[in-house]
Amino acid sequence: MRKKIVAANWKMNKDLAEANEFLSNLMQFVPSTDVEVLLAPSYTNLWHAYETTRDFPVEIIAQNVHEKPSGAYTGEVSASMLKSIGVNRAIIGHSERRQFFNETDEIVAQKVNILLQNDMKLICCIGENLQERNANKHFSVIKNQLKNGLFHLHDSDWSSVVIAYEPVWAIGTGQTATPEQAQEMHAFIRNTISEHYNDSLAAQVSILYGGSVKPQNAETLFTNPDVDGALVGGASLEVNHFIEIIQAL
Ligand code: PGA
Repeated sequence: MRKKIVAANWKMNKDLAEANEFLSNLMQFVPSTDVEVLLAPSYTNLWHAYETTRDFPVEIIAQNVHEKPSGAYTGEVSASMLKSIGVNRAIIGHSERRQFFNETDEIVAQKVNILLQNDMKLICCIGENLQERNANKHFSVIKNQLKNGLFHLHDSDWSSVVIAYEPVWAIGTGQTATPEQAQEMHAFIRNTISEHYNDSLAAQVSILYGGSVKPQNAETLFTNPDVDGALVGGASLEVNHFIEIIQAL
């Protein structure tokens, strides 16, 4: 059985006091045991969030990681640094990283490797932009992102991989993919993995949907057989909304 996951991506939001307030509210709510709850605050809040939620079933994860193990990369944070403070997973390939920080598929693949070398897990984001969808290129874009970012992995590595399908046109726009669009692409992703590897490996990979997930649309998205949860941006900043999305899964 693959895992059901709801992950919060706070992006560049919430200072320490705001993070603290959110966490104390979240901890009054005990998520159902079959949903994994992940939360990605900014680097500055990682250690505090980790310490605060030590005895609570939420995993604190990073929004990014640098692809090199260490060295002269001013302003960057390595996988081993994250690991040393109890963070065992990072989001990579987010469309904002791809768009504003030139994170290419090649860099994504390097980030995958450095995380696995450190025995860490990852959420790899993939997604097409509006122009690509309108030109009917969305399937080939996704296939390439999978191929270039992840298909060098060995079968055994895949237990550390979660995929987030995030159509760029749906991120922060309020324009969610329809449940049919989400299911169609999630099934395509699973098939593509299955073609490259095998059915049973593909059946084990959790594929999250991301892009304007809200309490109002979460339940319908989650009824799709290939949607195993969500990566939530805007709606994860409000604790009640985040909890409602967890409860919808
Ligand atoms: P959104 O962001 O929920 O605000 O659309 C999702 C994401 O970028 O991960």
